[in-house]
This record gives sequence, structure tokens and C-alpha cells, in this order.
Amino acid sequence: MSVADWEHARGHMMLDRTFVNLNTGSGGPLPRRTFERVTELRTHLAGAPMDFLLHEVPPLLWNARERLAGLLGADPRRLALATNVTGALNLVASSLRPSAPGEILLTDHEYTPVRWCWERLARRQGLEVRTFRLPALPAGPDEIVAAAVEAMGPRTRLLAFSHVLATTGLVLPARELCEEARRRNIVTVVDGAHTPAFVDLNLAGLPCDFYVGSGHKWLLAPTGTGFLYLGRGSEDVLEPTQVSWAYQPPPGGGPLDERDSFGSTPRLRRLECEGTRDICPWLAIPESIDFQTGIGLAEIRARRRELAFHVRRRLAGDRGLEPATPAAEELSGGMVAFRLPRTPGTDRLRQELWERFRIEVAVPERPEGPLLRVSVNFYNTEAEIDELADALKELTS
Ligand SMILES: Cc1ncc(COP(=O)(O)O)c(C=O)c1O
Repeated sequence: MSVADWEHARGHMMLDRTFVNLNTGSGGPLPRRTFERVTELRTHLAGAPMDFLLHEVPPLLWNARERLAGLLGADPRRLALATNVTGALNLVASSLRPSAPGEILLTDHEYTPVRWCWERLARRQGLEVRTFRLPALPAGPDEIVAAAVEAMGPRTRLLAFSHVLATTGLVLPARELCEEARRRNIVTVVDGAHTPAFVDLNLAGLPCDFYVGSGHKWLLAPTGTGFLYLGRGSEDVLEPTQVSWAYQPPPGGGPLDERDSFGSTPRLRRLECEGTRDICPWLAIPESIDFQTGIGLAEIRARRRELAFHVRRRLAGDRGLEPATPAAEELSGGMVAFRLPRTPGTDRLRQELWERFRIEVAVPERPEGPLLRVSVNFYNTEAEIDELADALKELTS
């Protein structure tokens, strides 16, 4: 696609043009048509709540589930919708009862509240949490698998890892990690907060127990779109966080796994029904999928690689920052992180980038020092990356 094509695609985004947004990893802007769709749905909800909930929602909800399942390579009957990764992950962690003594194994790059969630489960169950170090700049997926395998032992009950690290954007070899865990009877919970529309997913072929993810980052779906995928053999392990109308099996029994009159299945609805709430964001997921597939998911990925390459050229090449994300295609995508020197000025860096230069990036803290994480998507431009490089020159020299 040409520069003009990307400029055209950018024109369909609700981007606030008063600043440079290099932080899709924290939250993606919406395509205008998704915003219009969710607003249209909310207008119906506002004007005729019961008509909307009883008549309009069920087919739309099933359609949203099928469309998302198509994108994720999943069976729609195994895909519960959720508010976000936090909600889906807490649902999993509050249901599981791994046996003590033993340990929950995490990588040393898990999202902080997610780690706290596993620490709470460990405390409740009398388990320990152990972390293993991911190789700093792995040359290939094998190095990551080797580090994980070395850490797994007879005491390991559960392995939880991010498919794409929030800190550096490193893409972990999820399939190999789940296979190794399954071989050892270790339950796997994969945090896919960054993966929908970022990596090519085939959840049906992933031997995990649970996979959670969100739509409000790279999928460019509205805030409030999370999901929980139930892996083979783990379909009936979980308890809903909220006990609501779908808690009891349907009167007279019936199949748990078939589409019901609510746009769900009894099994999934038990997990996703949380009383009366606004699920319009879920129903607008197909708009975001249509928008991105209309451009071409492969084209978008290729454009992200091009832009990520430009980020490396400007920040590593010209500014001399040390990359914390490998460049290999199978290990990275649209997020590139760099090590920042630990100086007092670093704390103010994000604030100054925002206040003086109107540039939004993430600056995650790591024990070894802060990182600058730059997210690029098809609506970003080389010129925006150049602006960041110039701002950094001024702030760090
Ligand atoms: C790896 C990872 N896990 C979990 C979360 C939490 O996601 P949410 O805020 O959608 O619940 C994030 C958010 O950025 C994340 O990056």
C-alpha cells in the first residue's frame, strides 16, 4: 500500500490530531465507524432498554462472538466475552484451586496487577509464586522455551505468561510453552492483552487451559471488550465472578454448549452474565474487525514492521538508545522498547514528552531500569517517529 493509502486509512480513525499517539499498546483509538456503531447501539439502549436487551442484543451478541472467534481462530462456543483482561483473569484465578504444596510460575515481565492476582491465589492456596527470567534479547523462541522449561518442576502447578510482553513487546512462543506445560500437567493461563489483531492467533490449536485478551488495544474495539477462551479439557472448571441469572443451569437441563436465546450458550452465559450492564462495546467488535480486514491484516502487520524499523533506525541508530526488543519477525511486532539511563531526569521524561512535545509513549519501569516503549500502528507516520527522536535529543542531551 502507498503512503496515500495509509493516509486515507488514518483519515478513518478518530485520532486526536493535537498530539502524537505512539501508545496503542496502552489503548487504541477507534475507527470512526466503530464509534458510530457503538453510539447507535447505545442510542437504542437509552431509548428502549428492554426492546434492545431482549430483541436486538441476542443475534448481535452471537454475531460478535462468531466474528471475534473467527479472528482468534477459536470455537465460538468456547469464547466468553468479558469487560477486560483484568476481569477475565480474575475470574480464572478466583476459580482455580491448585494443590499445595507447590508453586505458580510466572515470567519476570508480567503485568503488575496480574502478578498481584496470582500472588493472592498463591496466598489463599498455600502456594509460592516463582518467577523465571526471560532472556534479555533472545535470538529465537527456543531460548525462551528453554528458560521456561528449566524453571518448570514437579512443584509447578500453574504457568501464567503474557503472549506479548507489555514491557518490551516481545512475542513469546505461546504454543511451545503451553505444550511443554501440558506435558508436565501444568495448568496454563495465557495473558493475551496485546494479541488480537497484533499476532496471528489460532486458539483452537493452542494447548492452553485459559486464554484471556482484550479488544481495546490493537483490535481498535471500544473500551470494555475483553474475552476468556476455555481450552480443551478446561470447559467446566470456572466459577463466575458474579453470581447472576445464568448461574443455575437452564430449567429442564438441556445442552450447555449450544447457542441459546440470549446470544450465548448456557456454559458461556454463566461466566459472562453480570446482571444489567452495558454490553454495547461487545456488539461493536465486528465493526473494528471489518475495518481492519478491509485494509488487510497482513498489510497492517507489514506496515507496523516498516514503522518499527524506522523507530529502531531513529532511536537506536541516531539517538544511540539500546533496544530491549529483538528485531526478529517472530519475536516482535508493533511495540519496540529501549533502555533509558536511570537518571533523575528520566522520571520526568514521559511528562515532558507529553507536556512540551505532545507525544504520548509508555515508560514502563523495570528492576534493571526504565524503558521507553514505542507503539506504532498503521495510522502513525515516519514524521511522528522523527518528532519523538528530535524531542528525545532535546530532552536527553
Ligand atoms: C500484559 C497485560 N496484561 C493485562 C493488562 C490489563 O488489561 P486491562 O486493563 O484491559 O484489564 C494489560 C494492560 O495494558 C497488559 O498489558
